[in-house]
Amino acid sequence: MKTAVFSARPYDRHFLEAANQQGGTADAFTFEYFDVGLDLATATLAQDCQAVCVFVNDRLDAPVLRALHALGVRAVLLRCAGFNNVDIAAAEQLGLFVARVPAYSPEAVAEHALALIMTLNRHTHRAYNRVREGNFMLDGLLGRTLHGRTVGIVGTGKIGLATARIMKGMGCTVLGFDPYRSPAFAEIGEAVALDELLTRSDIVSLHCPLTPDTHHLINEESLGRMKPGAMLVNTSRGGLVNTDAVVRALKSRHLGHLAIDVYEQESALFFQDLSGEIIDDDLFQRLMTFPNVLVTGHQGFFTVEALQEICSITLGNLSDFANGVECTNTVTAA
Ligand code: NAI
Repeated sequence: MKTAVFSARPYDRHFLEAANQQGGTADAFTFEYFDVGLDLATATLAQDCQAVCVFVNDRLDAPVLRALHALGVRAVLLRCAGFNNVDIAAAEQLGLFVARVPAYSPEAVAEHALALIMTLNRHTHRAYNRVREGNFMLDGLLGRTLHGRTVGIVGTGKIGLATARIMKGMGCTVLGFDPYRSPAFAEIGEAVALDELLTRSDIVSLHCPLTPDTHHLINEESLGRMKPGAMLVNTSRGGLVNTDAVVRALKSRHLGHLAIDVYEQESALFFQDLSGEIIDDDLFQRLMTFPNVLVTGHQGFFTVEALQEICSITLGNLSDFANGVECTNTVTAA
């Protein structure tokens, strides 16, 4: 069975091929790698393939799914947890098999959230450059001791829980908001309403999925509820945050710090080397001018352990599809 792998970087090829070898030759699949993302213009690359393997910024709306189906594609393998980029209802209508990797080292993303918090809080991103230039002044590098601070976790699922555990270990008071109560979280922190979390937290960290309900969950109103000087961290999905409103909150000095690993318009920027290009996204460029903003390019998942798990689970999903076996990782509209 041949699978077209879109948005394929060298590390995707390396870890997918390693997982493919581990399965033994009897189960080995054939992969064709394309570094371009999947959209209507590139869908034809999946000619002669029965499956496509895609990532977070590949577009799988109804027209793309119909084009893939017409080419003979019958399975969509997401090498990520979120599936907000797939029109699941359209996929179901076409009878496509869609599977994701629901959990792979949630600690990888939680640890990245911690890295962002620590960097921004102690200004190590600025200290690094300063010291390399022989400037050993401390002015402007004043941080806050995290021990004793209050951290609000929005979405206490796998990654939120891992983040809560880390922050508890740092000596923070942990608050959580999730429409579904988590007994595991109750052992670590206090479950509260979203408004209470926003008003009480020094650091708000987002770990809920992007859905129509959570789109722009952080907007002018919710930012207004946050403590003056608080930090907002988003390692989940860019669409959770209204970036225009965030820029206004930063300019008014109400929002103290912003750390993001995801950005609503990231598909035009992330996972590419644009260092020699002119970047047209004025909103993103405005974010880059704030000393209290830290942006990474969707690398929360990017550890050896997480990539090994992603690829081995993706291979398992493909194997289930190929063998007509029920797959526990399928995504359905229900
Ligand atoms: P999960 O499904 O284990 O947890 C998500 C939690 O959010 C659930 O407990 C759910 O009840 C809760 N939730 C749903 N609607 C909510 C709302 N309106 N308000 C608050 N909570 C709500 O998912 P997991 O594995 O923890 O992943 C969370 C998100 O992290 C994913 O949806 C994905 O977008 C993002 N992610 C980012 C990565 C990165 O590299 N930066 C890598 C992997 C995931």
